[in-house]
Order: sequence, then C-alpha cells, then structure tokens
Amino acid sequence: MSRLSSEISRSADKVNKFIETVVDLETEPKVLYRAARHIIDAGGKRLRPFLVLKTCKLVGGNEEDALAAASSLEMLHTFTLLHDDIMDQDEKRRGVPSVHTKWGVPIAIVAGDLLFAKVYETITKYTDPKHVKPKRILQVIEEISKATIVLCEGQTRDMLFEDKETVSEEEYFRMIEGKTAALFEISSRCGGLLGGATKSQVKRLGEFGRYAGVAFQVIDDILALTADEKVLKKPVGNDIREGKRTLIVVYALKKASKGQRQKILETLGNQDASAEQIRETISLFESLDAIAYAKKLADKYIRKSKKALSLFPEGPDKEDLLNLADLIFARQN
Ligand code: IPE
Ligand code: IPE
Ligand code: MG
Ligand code: MG
Repeated sequence: MSRLSSEISRSADKVNKFIETVVDLETEPKVLYRAARHIIDAGGKRLRPFLVLKTCKLVGGNEEDALAAASSLEMLHTFTLLHDDIMDQDEKRRGVPSVHTKWGVPIAIVAGDLLFAKVYETITKYTDPKHVKPKRILQVIEEISKATIVLCEGQTRDMLFEDKETVSEEEYFRMIEGKTAALFEISSRCGGLLGGATKSQVKRLGEFGRYAGVAFQVIDDILALTADEKVLKKPVGNDIREGKRTLIVVYALKKASKGQRQKILETLGNQDASAEQIRETISLFESLDAIAYAKKLADKYIRKSKKALSLFPEGPDKEDLLNLADLIFARQN
C-alpha cells in the first residue's frame, strides 16, 4: 500500500469511529438512524475528511483538533448524496441500494436532514475551545454554511441545465464549482483554520481544494460514462438518460455536425434510452474527442491545484496532498 492510501485509510478509521458515536444506530426511531448510516457504512473514499485532517497538519496543527470537523464534512457530503440520489433518481450508491430505494423518498429526505443538523451539532459539541479559539470554530461554521448555500445553487443549476438546449463551458464550470468543488474547498480551508493557518495560507489551501474539486467532478463525469459499474459502485450511463450537461456533453454538442447533434439530443434526457443507444452516444462523444478534451481540462485543474501548495514547506504532509491531487486525476472510482 502506498503511503497515501495508508494515510487515507488511517484518517477514515478515525472518522468512521467518530461518526459511529454521533450517529448511533441504537437511537430511536431506529429507521432514521439506520437510513442515515446506510451509505456511510457502505464505504466511500473519505476524501473530504482526509483533506481536513491533512491540511490541519500541513500548517502545523494537531489532527485531533480537526477530527470533529473532518467527521462533519463527511456527514455533510453524505447528506448531499442522499438528496442527490433522489434528485438524480439513482438506485445505487457505494455498491448498495440508495437510501430512497431502500426506505422510500420521505425517509431519505429526513435522514439527510438529520445528517445536516449533525454537522453543526458535532462541530460545536466536540471541538475543544481550549485548543481551538472560539473565533476559529465560528469561522468553520460560517464556511460550512456558505459552502452549503453554493452547493444548493450548483445542484439547482445541474437540474435546470437538463432542460436547457445549450449550456456553455463557463456555465458548466460555475455549476460544478458549486455542487462539488465548494466542499473540497472548505474541507481544505477548515483544516487550515483549525490548525492555526494564517489568512493567506487559508486562501491558498482553499484554492488547492477548489481546483482539485473541479478536476474531481470532471473526472467523475468521465467515469460516469466509461467506468466499470462494479468498480464505480454507482450507475454508469445514467447521466445521459438524465440529460446531464457534463463537460463532455457541452463540448460534444459544440463540435457536433447538425446530424450528430440531433442524434445526441435524441438520447440525452431520454429515460428509456437502451443500453445500445447509450453505447452509441458514448462512441460519438469519443469520436468528437469530447472525453479526451475533458481529461485535458481535468489535468489542467490538477496542475493549478498543486501549484497552490507551492509556498508550503516540503514534507510528508505536502507530499500526501500533492499525491492526492494526482490520485483524483487517475482514480477509477
Ligand atoms: C461523489 O463523491 C459525489 C461527487 C461529488 C461526484 P465521491 O466520489 O467522493 O463519493 P464517495 O464518498 O467516495 O462515495
Ligand atoms: C455531485 O453530484 C454533487 C453532489 C452530490 C452534491 P453528481 O450527481 O454529479 O454525483 P454522483 O455521480 O451522483 O455521485
Ligand atoms: Mg448524482
Ligand atoms: Mg447530481
């Protein structure tokens, strides 16, 4: 195992134990707590809490001071996944049935709400004001509130774009900066804040997280078309059925001939599109170089993200973060 993967799993173990105590399976009504834990217990990469803990250490802080916030960021992420699967009508997540598929939409909504409330409860209850200045704890709360607002805006744009004839690249990037990059950005900023970072360090950490988050979503859009479903552990091809305007789609529609464009639009947003139609559309994207183009832009964002760390001192923590950026580009799930 590489140092990075063992570091990610070490941080995941800590965060998992923490979440198990704050979202206790034995609390009544049990169905609520079981639904809230379902996706958490099914796995996941735990990248956002890793970012919190690593950036805290990078600036010389004590990881333990950021553990409550790291766990909260994973709960916030899970809350968005529960609601996202309802919005996207996806039946699978982390290799198991999504919460609304298992318990129905009303339980999935309230389980998401519970996790969102747990975010704030956990940070305020378990971040020790003897170790972290209350002003910093308040700043973390502010960061989380702001990012969640931007995330809601991004998620709304993502859905509105499904019915929009033409979406520009600029609009696409604004949408993913909201729905995905905002959480990566604040994970890094909050780690810095809790570790005692200076203002300019927090800013640079935020840039690192934001650019890595943009690349993360572009790669996610590629994987949602090209990955092996067993490896990805979520549906492949559904983005097309849902009519998602991913970077690949945006670019393909721009480059397509009139005939090709018509063919793409026939399948895009067609809930009943067959596996064969989906395959043909993906081949068309490939022949228009849309997937290669998306990879190129993801690579550009990864480079920008790594550059944001250039002024931090060399050492194993910085190395881990740089390797994480590379992993985000190379990941298969
Ligand atoms: C999924 O995020 C949602 C996106 C932003 C694309 P992850 O790919 O980090 O999901 P898990 O936590 O590993 O399941
Ligand atoms: C990612 O949404 C962002 C959030 C979940 C808030 P997507 O819909 O693109 O991600 P997946 O593919 O369902 O994980
Ligand atoms: Mg989704
Ligand atoms: Mg979505």
